[in-house]
Amino acid sequence: MIPFKRRKVISSVTGNSCSDSNCKFPGVVIFLLGRKMGASRRAFLTRLGHGKGFNIQDCFSCSITHLVSENNSGREVQTWLVSQTGGQEREIESNSAGLGLVHLLDITWYTESMQAGCPVAIKDRHRLQERAEPGAELQVALVPSYACQRHTPLLHHNTVLTDALSILAENAELTDNEGRGVAFRRAAALLKSLPHEIRGMEQLKGLPCLGDHCLRVIKEVLEDGTCSEVETTRQSGQFTALKALTGIFGVGAKTADRWFREGIHTPSDLQRSGHTLNRAQQAGLQYYDDLNRPVTKAEADAIGRIVERAVSEVLPGAEITLIGGFRRGKNTGHDVDFLITHPDEGKEEGLMVKVVSWLEAQDFLLYQKTTRNSYLESKDGPARPPSNMDRFERCFSIFRLSTHNGVRMTETDPHSHFSVHPHDSHPTPQTCRTVDVLSREDSSEIGQPQSSHSQSWRAVRVDLVVSPYSQFSFALLGWTGSKLFERELRRWAVHEKAMTLSSHTLYDSKQRQYLRANSEEEIFALLGLEYVPPCGRNA
Ligand code: UTP
Ligand code: MN
Repeated sequence: MIPFKRRKVISSVTGNSCSDSNCKFPGVVIFLLGRKMGASRRAFLTRLGHGKGFNIQDCFSCSITHLVSENNSGREVQTWLVSQTGGQEREIESNSAGLGLVHLLDITWYTESMQAGCPVAIKDRHRLQERAEPGAELQVALVPSYACQRHTPLLHHNTVLTDALSILAENAELTDNEGRGVAFRRAAALLKSLPHEIRGMEQLKGLPCLGDHCLRVIKEVLEDGTCSEVETTRQSGQFTALKALTGIFGVGAKTADRWFREGIHTPSDLQRSGHTLNRAQQAGLQYYDDLNRPVTKAEADAIGRIVERAVSEVLPGAEITLIGGFRRGKNTGHDVDFLITHPDEGKEEGLMVKVVSWLEAQDFLLYQKTTRNSYLESKDGPARPPSNMDRFERCFSIFRLSTHNGVRMTETDPHSHFSVHPHDSHPTPQTCRTVDVLSREDSSEIGQPQSSHSQSWRAVRVDLVVSPYSQFSFALLGWTGSKLFERELRRWAVHEKAMTLSSHTLYDSKQRQYLRANSEEEIFALLGLEYVPPCGRNA
C-alpha cells in the first residue's frame, strides 16, 4: 500500500496554479490528467489555460470540478481515481460543497474552451465514454465518500464483507495502528451504506473509500468465502488475548499490550499475576462476564427509568435522553448512555454529584467515577477542547440492575417521562411487551473472578453525561455516534468547511466565531450537509 502522505500529491507540472486574482471562472476548477497526455503537453496546455484565466490545479483534490483527459476511457479514468484516493482521504466524486460532481471530460472540451476563451457548455460528446459500464458512472455519482453524507442503516446487505473488514480494523486498533483501523472502518461503512449486496468486484468500480488492501480482502472473501489474513488474525493468540484483556472495563489497548508481553493472556492470568489494579480494573475483573454480555434494549429502558427517577428526585424539570447505540436503533449495546440537561441554563451545574448520591443511596451502583466539567473553567466560552475528548460532567458507572423475580421489565412505560428523540428509529410500541430478563447463562470459565452472585441482578455499564441546555444539540449529536460517523463529521467540518465541530460547539474559522444551534438538524445545515437521522448514523 502506498503511504497516504506520498499519495496525496499526485503529479505536478512546471508553472504555478493560477492565483485567485487571475481566475476569470471561479466555478470551474480544472485538473489535467497526465496519464497518456505526457508531461510536456500537459505543461503546455496548463500554461495556455492559465493565460486565458482558467483555474488549473496541479494536484487532484476535492476542489476539482472538471477532470480533463486525453486518450482515456471513462473506465480508465475512474480506475485511476480510485487508485489515487483509495479510501485513504478526500473524495473523488464531489466538489468542496459535496454536492456537485466532477465532470469527467475529454480534451475536446478543453480545446474548445481555449478557443472560445471561456468554459463552453458541456455536451454529451465532451463526456468520457462510459457506455460499456453504465453502472460505474452511476455509482461514482451516487455514493459520496464521507460517511456523514450517506445514510448507513443498522441492517445492511454486506455483513460477510463488513465482518471481515471489522476484524482487521479491530486488530489494527488493538496494535496501535489507528490509521489502518480507520481505513478498514471507512471501507466497511461504505459497504454498509450500499442498497444492494456486493457479489463481484466489478460492482465496486468507482466507489470511494476502498483502498488496495480492502479490495484484496473483499476479493478473497467474494471468491473463497473467507480471507486468509482475516482468519489468521481471528485465530492469532495476540488478537484473542488483546481482545480478552481490553474486554476488562478500565483496560485500554496500551495496558493490554504491556500485559500481553508479560505473558498475561486472559483475565484469569491477570487475576493470578498479582498486578496492582486501579478501581475501575478491579470492578472490570469482578464483573467481567456481565460486562461482556450485551445489554438488551429492555435492560437499557429499565436503567433509563431508574436514572429518570434519580434525576427527577434531585432536580425536577431535568430532561434525560437515551444516546449512543440505542438511540441509533441498536437492540443491544456494550453499555447504556444518557444525556441529562435542564431547560434553565445553570440549573444543571452540580447535578451529577446529586444524581450519583441518590443512586448510591438506593444501592444501584457497583462502581462509579465522576469527572467534573471543565468547560466552565475556560474563560473564553465553550472553547475548543484540545483533543476530541469533551469536557462535560460525566459519570462512568456500573449499575446493579435487578433481574429479580417479579421485576418484569417492559419495553415502554406509559408513565415514563423518559424522553425519546422525535427522530429516533424505534417508535414506541403500542403494546408493552414483557421481557424475561431472568434467563441468564451460568458464568463461563473466563469469569472465574466474577462474584458468584445469584441471578437476581446483573452488572451493566452506564455512562451519564450532563450538558448545559445551550450545548445540548451538540452533545446529542456528539454522543449518538457511531464513532466513525462522528469522526467523519469532524473530518468533513475541517476539510470541507474550515470549521471545528465538538460535542460543545461549532467553530467557524473563516468567520472566527462560534455558531449556535438548537437542534441536530440545524447543525447539519450549518455544516452544509443533508440531515441524517440517528438510525442512518450506523457507520
Ligand atoms: P459508545 O462507546 O457507548 O458506543 O459511545 P455506542 O455507539 O453506544 O456502542 P455500544 O452499543 O455501546 O457498543 C457512544 C458515543 O458517544 C461518543 C462517541 O461518539 C460514541 O459514538 N463518545 C463516547 C464520546 O464522544 N466521548 C467518549 O469519551 C465516549
Ligand atoms: Mn454505548
